[in-house]
Amino acid sequence: MLTVLDHPLITHKLTQMRDKNCGTKDFREHLDEIAELMAYEVCRDLPVKPVEIETPMAKMTGYELSKEVIIVPILRAGIGLLDGIRRLVPTAKVGFIGLYRDEETLEPHEYFAKFPKNLEDAIVMVVDPMLATGGSAVDAINMIKKRGAKNIKMVCLVGAPEGVKALEEAHPDVDLYLAALDEKLNETGYIVPGLGDAGDRIFGTK
Ligand code: PRP
Ligand code: URA
Repeated sequence: MLTVLDHPLITHKLTQMRDKNCGTKDFREHLDEIAELMAYEVCRDLPVKPVEIETPMAKMTGYELSKEVIIVPILRAGIGLLDGIRRLVPTAKVGFIGLYRDEETLEPHEYFAKFPKNLEDAIVMVVDPMLATGGSAVDAINMIKKRGAKNIKMVCLVGAPEGVKALEEAHPDVDLYLAALDEKLNETGYIVPGLGDAGDRIFGTK
């Protein structure tokens, strides 16, 4: 299921990032702040369990998170969302998937994978700023499902309708969160209007 988190603060920061004159430092900072704001909404339905505690005044039943959260950034650009989410869920463990998109075929290629244990019992958040054709997200989720993950959330900043469709068809059980659903992909597989190449803008590689 798709949820577009078009909160005014998220939209405001995303608009600043989209601007071609936004430099590396500001781009990274806005992305980090948006990740924290998105995480608040993405975590809204995390399961909790009752726990007996004693305040200075009385005994009471409180509630604490009942499942481990594992964040899985898709390298490279997914790294830009990691710290913001971890500020809200500091106990989260982190896995990594390295994928790059072939510039000609647009097919994703895997170059790295490393995960914490217990993927099968955890809430797994796969994070990547861009959902273009959806190939990278679909492959990343295939990889973590193969290792047992059952409860998966895909968190992206900007999506194209083509990527949303591909993800919904391949993984209808996965909840998808976007900050914005854009118009289309162009002939070279970039999201329009989008924000350009997220990895290059985060790491200053172009
Ligand atoms: C970008 C982006 C996604 C992917 C999206 O990564 O961060 O992972 O493209 O495109 P898709 O939906 O068509 O698969 P890229 O492959 O450019 O690698 P990078 O993060 O190292 O820059
Ligand atoms: N990857 C990006 O970084 N940007 C796009 O628009 C599409 C894929």
